[in-house]
Amino acid sequence: MARIIGGITTSHVPAIGGAIHRRLQDDPYWKPFFDGYPPVRKWLAEARPDTVVVVHNDHGLNFFLDRMPTFAVGAAPQYRNADEGWGIPTLPPFTGDLDLSWHMIESLVADEFDIVTCQEMMVDHGFSLPMALLWPTQDWPVRVVPVVVNTVQAPLPTAARCLRFGEAIGRAIQSWESDRRVLVMGTGGLSHQLDGTRAGYINREFDLKFMASMIDDPKWATQYSIEELVELTGTQGIELLMWLVARGALPGKVRRLHSNYHIPISNTATGLMLMAA
Ligand code: DHB
Ligand code: FE
Repeated sequence: MARIIGGITTSHVPAIGGAIHRRLQDDPYWKPFFDGYPPVRKWLAEARPDTVVVVHNDHGLNFFLDRMPTFAVGAAPQYRNADEGWGIPTLPPFTGDLDLSWHMIESLVADEFDIVTCQEMMVDHGFSLPMALLWPTQDWPVRVVPVVVNTVQAPLPTAARCLRFGEAIGRAIQSWESDRRVLVMGTGGLSHQLDGTRAGYINREFDLKFMASMIDDPKWATQYSIEELVELTGTQGIELLMWLVARGALPGKVRRLHSNYHIPISNTATGLMLMAA
């Protein structure tokens, strides 16, 4: 059976793509952010995942308000990135792991998660930039399965539902008849609000509590409703739901191998965690 080797949760901010392109990793503004990633890349070089399940929220590149699934799973041979209007370079295409996609889709539906299956899917900065942070050469030595969770249009799935969705993804991966080593990623957050009167809002205290809860008490955030989480973390801070899905997929107790927290990148409090399953 396939093995889940660990989980990585990270923020995604479009400006990261510009910084990579302009090689600003050692610039004083960017260094505290980029310095979080080398220990993760070192771990990846040893852990050698074959396939990555990338839980992210689409921002309007693939899904728009006319059709907005709560949960969607990619089942495409290849996933392309495209211009979202941020002025960041597009990245090379990603090769899908069709076998795991279809196994996950069958397992999730049998497990009563009625996901949308996408045999074509574009992947935006929520997917591509975390991949570029982990594999800077952009030659992607892994196959991928994108999983998308709606954070754009109300109603959003509750934190408890997201954690249970992650648990179902974990069961799916572990019942896959394969010797492939699977990494689970969750991208988005942490606290940020891009618009409205609270634009620029950040909640460091909440973010640090949330990061700690990922290790010892993943149910902690499920005490809050979506409205309370938006109040606490900002309208886009709700992307932390991706972290809960990824955490839910990790079997049993997890160990924190590495973490980083830096404020701000653009309008966002950025977080990074590497967890061993
Ligand atoms: C920013 C953050 C995001 O999560 C996003 O999707 C877009 C922009 C930002 O801070 O600029
Ligand atoms: Fe985002």
